[in-house]
Amino acid sequence: MRKNIVAGNWKMNTTLQDGQALISEIVNMVQDEATGSAVEVVVCPPFPFLSAIGRQLPQGGRFHLGAQNCHQKETGAFTGEVSAKMLQSVGAEYVILGHSERRQYFGEDDELLSQKLKAALAAGLKPIFCVGESLETREADETFNFISKQLKDGLFHLSNEEFDQVVIAYEPIWAIGTGKTATSQQAQEVHAFIREQIARAYDAEAALNTSILYGGSANAQNARELFSQPDVDGGLIGGASLKSRDFTEIIKSF
Ligand code: PGA
Repeated sequence: MRKNIVAGNWKMNTTLQDGQALISEIVNMVQDEATGSAVEVVVCPPFPFLSAIGRQLPQGGRFHLGAQNCHQKETGAFTGEVSAKMLQSVGAEYVILGHSERRQYFGEDDELLSQKLKAALAAGLKPIFCVGESLETREADETFNFISKQLKDGLFHLSNEEFDQVVIAYEPIWAIGTGKTATSQQAQEVHAFIREQIARAYDAEAALNTSILYGGSANAQNARELFSQPDVDGGLIGGASLKSRDFTEIIKSF
């Protein structure tokens, strides 16, 4: 069965010291406050802090370590890049791929993302694969066509076994970092659509078993309403994951 997941995407924020203070607060609050045990928490700090933050996470519990990106090749002369295998070797279990900021600012297209997905899976990482439309696309009433194409071109080339490892995040670009959250109805509508596409590309069981997270200005105030939707299995949280109280409240929203 699919899992409820709250993932914190720290993006390019914090120093090592700030990050360590933040994660120790989060771990303490989550442990103290009897949050529903059925929620998996994935923390995705910047590359240089992965080992250190990973060591602060209680082992064998609900906390898991994730990275924000990886290179598509396993090793080699790619100065400045980080491979999936390296991430796995420092304790990462997840990797965010296809985030709209990577697509937009770093020109990552479906072809490249397909290769990154393969590399992540080969290294034993679970990809959190992001899709989501721009405001322009939404206003042109093209959201479903757009999402369907992102899924087809970027993701649905995976085998059934590979796809089993994937978490999907629906992140409307117009909601990311803008304070403008999708309504729970808007989120539910797209999540249900994504699940339907999975059923078509794979089968009903795969559709039922895939966790689909919502991302885009999710916060302590709106998380409960968003997570109450039948096809919303959690959140990919940016800004609010940098505040221990807010992030803990979001985890407690289940
Ligand atoms: P936000 O970012 O919560 O700050 O809108 C979400 C994301 O980009 O993953």
